[in-house]
Amino acid sequence: MKEQIDLIVKSLEDKMHDGLSLNDLESLRVAYLGKNGLLTAQMAVIKTLSNEDKPKFGQWINEAKQAIETKISDQKNFLLIQAMNAQLEKETIDVSLPGLNFKKGSLHPLTIVTQDLEDYFIGLGYKVAEGPELELDKYNFEMMNLASDHPAREMHDSFYVTTNTLLRTHTSPIQARYMEQAKGEPIAIIAPGKTYRRDPDDRTHSHQFMQCEGLVIDKDITFAHLKSTLLGMARHIFGAERTIRLRPSYFPFTEPSVEVDVSYITAEGKTEWIEVLGAGMVHPNVLEMGGYDAKVFSGFAFGIGIERIAILKYQIDDIRQFYTNDLRFLNQFKGVL
Ligand code: DAH
Repeated sequence: MKEQIDLIVKSLEDKMHDGLSLNDLESLRVAYLGKNGLLTAQMAVIKTLSNEDKPKFGQWINEAKQAIETKISDQKNFLLIQAMNAQLEKETIDVSLPGLNFKKGSLHPLTIVTQDLEDYFIGLGYKVAEGPELELDKYNFEMMNLASDHPAREMHDSFYVTTNTLLRTHTSPIQARYMEQAKGEPIAIIAPGKTYRRDPDDRTHSHQFMQCEGLVIDKDITFAHLKSTLLGMARHIFGAERTIRLRPSYFPFTEPSVEVDVSYITAEGKTEWIEVLGAGMVHPNVLEMGGYDAKVFSGFAFGIGIERIAILKYQIDDIRQFYTNDLRFLNQFKGVL
């Protein structure tokens, strides 16, 4: 009986060779150990044996079963390791190959100007504030002392969404919002962002553009603070040799109000002036509406057009260049900041 079992094991050994696939090995396993397998069939013999012989026979069968299992699974493992090694071999990386060259983008010129302003003013201790682009009439106009008959309130000058919400026409409403939440504390902020007006688009106008607002409120803020701040900003942006000229102007939210020109030297060596922003001392009505006692507090504010700065700084001839995403234009700003 033992010989019979040994023969079965031996017959498997004869069938094993290196060329067998995983599938072949599985078929062999079924042929020997499956429900109708060669070794399994030997189990039937047990019934014919005496109680004395049964355990011995059972032990032989078990040993044979283990021998067969081990042989087949060893060969399976060998094949799996071989396949894995082949795969690893195939996937080795040649570290000396040249790398992939990813195309790097660049910052948009309007982002460059905005970040430059932020850096400058953060260095002076200002905070950067934000406000919603969809603004309430209350903040865009009312709290900025823009009377109800002000032309900007006309439907044809602004994008109204409902009767009292519109796309903000300037960044000035951020002043009002900030004052409201500062609850009488001193303020020093700049607030850059997008603004909208119903201007037909052409070389110098865009229905959407960017501004940066500035607001400082404290006790004893004077016009001299405004002037030195504007001069510092102009020199930071355009160069230390520049100077500024203030012209009296009118804005409902400042009194007195000025328009600010920056000097430049023409090709002929003449000093000329170019207007860059509006500014002034915060109007007492604006202070009061924002929760500040105008007899105790004073402040200055300014509003600067981001596109205008970029146009002057980088000599751009058409404001629409900023919005059309032409790579020939945008690629020129690689590495500027
Ligand atoms: N909001 C003004 C505009 O859009 C710009 C401006 C002028 C803002 C004077 C100010 C300021 O804060 O003081 O034309």
